[in-house]
Amino acid sequence: MTRIDRLLAQSGLYTRSEARALIRAGRVAAGGVTLTRPEEKCPESAAVTVDGEPVNCEKYRVFMLDKPAGLLSATEDARQGTVLELFPPELRRLGLFPAGRLDKDTTGLLLMTNDGDFAHRVISPRCGVLKTYAATAAAPLDEADAAAFARGLVLADGTECLPAELVPLGGCLCRITIGEGKYHQVKRMLAAIGKPCVSLRRIKIGALEIDGSLGPGGWRELSQFEKELIFGSSL
Ligand code: URA
Repeated sequence: MTRIDRLLAQSGLYTRSEARALIRAGRVAAGGVTLTRPEEKCPESAAVTVDGEPVNCEKYRVFMLDKPAGLLSATEDARQGTVLELFPPELRRLGLFPAGRLDKDTTGLLLMTNDGDFAHRVISPRCGVLKTYAATAAAPLDEADAAAFARGLVLADGTECLPAELVPLGGCLCRITIGEGKYHQVKRMLAAIGKPCVSLRRIKIGALEIDGSLGPGGWRELSQFEKELIFGSSL
């Protein structure tokens, strides 16, 4: 059980004092019951409305973003734009951060959350969540490249990569799936086979595919079903 003013403020839409004023004005209901005292308690999972309109008061939220090129996968930077700037103030207030990083010039699926445990499970190599990329290389790709990826590549500096999947898609295009996230990993893997990366877009995390209708910079919240799609796939 939690106080209704605290639960309402958790939405990011209202400060705690704004929440109290709305409650005292009789505009807030939890589980269909109007609560007029800010200190009244209700279940954390109660459906909350303001003026009859549903308000999402969940503590932890997860969004998918179609990251555009040119922004950093960070929450703040003194000189460059960050992906957080694509979200409105009420969502930024929730403490969203990227669950993993894409390079500044990489586009595609980036998860934004305020749930540290969730982010850890997405990122940690021990959890082995697969990340799939659509890549363009500087030279045509073939089955020999796929075999080199499947054996496990050794990068220029000696770093050993786990076996990964490269599917040649014709010409210089391919789909690459990896279960770890070393610094610039896909670009360094393509460089290691002598076919440097020209463009990179993440299209899938686990079994969750990017929503093609979002477009660069577009975002939306994930459903429970979509969150579950992230975990549990293997190479
Ligand atoms: N691998 C890279 O090299 N860059 C990314 O942004 C993601 C994976």
